[in-house]
Amino acid sequence: MTQPIRSVKIGRNNPCPCNSGKKYKKCCLVNSSSQQDRRHPENARIKLKSTIDIQGIRNAGKLVLQTLQLVEDHLKQGITTDSINTLVHEFTLKNNGIPAPLNYRGFPKSVCTSINEQICHGIPGTRVLNDGDIINVDVTTILNGYYADANKTFFIGEPSAEAKKIVDVARQSLNEGIQMVKPDNTLGDIGWAIQKYSQGQGCSVVREFVGHGVGFEFHEAPQVPHFGSKNAGTRLVPGMVFTIEPMINLGGRELIILDDKWTAITKDRSLSAQFEQTILVTETGWESLTPYPL
Ligand code: MF3
Ligand code: CO
Ligand code: CO
Repeated sequence: MTQPIRSVKIGRNNPCPCNSGKKYKKCCLVNSSSQQDRRHPENARIKLKSTIDIQGIRNAGKLVLQTLQLVEDHLKQGITTDSINTLVHEFTLKNNGIPAPLNYRGFPKSVCTSINEQICHGIPGTRVLNDGDIINVDVTTILNGYYADANKTFFIGEPSAEAKKIVDVARQSLNEGIQMVKPDNTLGDIGWAIQKYSQGQGCSVVREFVGHGVGFEFHEAPQVPHFGSKNAGTRLVPGMVFTIEPMINLGGRELIILDDKWTAITKDRSLSAQFEQTILVTETGWESLTPYPL
């Protein structure tokens, strides 16, 4: 199959989308095999990313990380989640990005903010942050047509021992998953490592929400479960780009969706935390396209 990447054709004399500052014809166009729309050998629904695509997602990822940093600098007790939404929305637009959550399947805001027992997809509003809260901020940005998706869980003021525990376990769960990423390992290996680690710490893994392919769209194939069996599922190949975003609960894994149709909370109201990065499978392992230390 020979198709131009995406449906948008880049002019030969246009600036190269890899951000080199050179003309496209003097840069990535030279490597024209990167123009093929490559598909995963086992699952044709998985669209592999070219060098140009990867640079586009990396650029979007940079903006996502800058946005998360801006939010972190602004976080303190007494502010509303709406003020986080405004910050994310305005900063994204100012940097020529589009906040992907806004109007996505009817989601009404530009970022997800999930506090304490909220697992994910919390809708910003008039709620005020209190000392001791934990809050996950999940930013997905479209830049020049490419999507990057990352989140972190932050402390407000002094965390309780329980808050420290769940945030540490969630952070390390993402790390354990990422360390499994290399060609010929499987998606099952990623889920297996996360499940083994987090359950070993006495915590539980949410099953209803999973990581996902990302880059050309918000949610692409494949799904990336945060539980599973070694050697099961799709094999990883270079050029795959997907999120790993384990949601880890201090108590049971069961969840409830609130009447707003979005916010997921733990059924037992125990604390839940999450970290997410957008990960590229490379020839030798992995590269985070939304890198931050874990
Ligand atoms: N960013 C979330 C994820 O990691 C998805 C949010 S969907 C929204 O996949 F509509 F709530 F924004
Ligand atoms: Co995601
Ligand atoms: Co996300």
